[in-house]
Formats: sequence, C-alpha cells, structure tokens
Amino acid sequence: AAGDAKAGERVFLKCRACHQVGEKAKNVVGPELNGLFGRTAGTAPGYSYSEANKASGIVWDEANFREYIADPRAKIPGTKMVFAGLKKEQEVDDLVAYLKTFNAD
Ligand code: HEM
Repeated sequence: AAGDAKAGERVFLKCRACHQVGEKAKNVVGPELNGLFGRTAGTAPGYSYSEANKASGIVWDEANFREYIADPRAKIPGTKMVFAGLKKEQEVDDLVAYLKTFNAD
C-alpha cells in the first residue's frame, strides 16, 4: 500500500529513542537519518559506527532499507543497532514515506 508520511511519523517513535531526523537532528545513540536514501552506510559525519556497518557497502535505497529494518542483524551481521525489526509492511511503507520527506530531492 502507499505510504502515509503522517502515519510514518508515529512509526518513527520506535526509532526516536536512538535516532533523530529533521532540522537540528544530531547523532545520538544512532546516527542522524537526514537524506538517508542515496546515502552510503556508515557515513553520517561525526558518528562512530561499527565496522560491520561501515563495511556493509550498502547505499541506502528503499529496497535495502526495507530488508534492513525488517531484521537489522540479518542484513548487517554485527551491527550495533539493537532493534528487533519492523514486521508490518504498512508500518514500513509509512516509515519510508516519512523518511523520504527528509531527502532533499
Ligand atoms: C543504524 C534506522 C531503530 C540504534 C541505523 C541505520 C539506519 C537506521 C538506516 C544505518 C544508518 C547509516 O548507515 O548511516 C533505524 C530506524 C529505526 C531504528 C528507521 C526504527 C524503525 C533504532 C533503535 C536503536 C537504534 C531503537 C537503539 C536501540 C542504531 C545504532 C546504529 C543504527 C546504534 C549504528 C549501527 C552500527 O554502527 O552498527 N539505524 N533505526 N536504531 N541504529 Fe537504527
């Protein structure tokens, strides 16, 4: 189904313990997520990533983000992101729509 950015803002509450996005977003427990789509994994300036994340070679797009967020440790074994994953497709659709609002293009 089509993603709803407004609903995705609510889904992002599950991420906010560790991630910020938007104007003034900072790296906290996890890296800031502005401009995520098109960004190379492990490159948010000033954030200290795991070797696993940096070595993943991923350039984030919708397809690989969907795989990652469904099961982060399956997609990037050794990641230090401790998150069980989002299993509901609609939540992922909505989250993608929300995160896309922080991509410049
Ligand atoms: C990394 C998204 C939940 C902690 C990442 C990355 C993405 C992401 C895309 C890779 C970023 C990059 O390569 O620059 C999300 C989303 C979440 C979520 C959308 C909610 C659905 C969480 C939670 C925590 C967390 C709840 C903390 C308990 C981290 C950490 C990293 C990371 C520590 C760095 C991983 C590493 O260097 O191995 N997250 N995350 N994330 N996230 Fe999350």
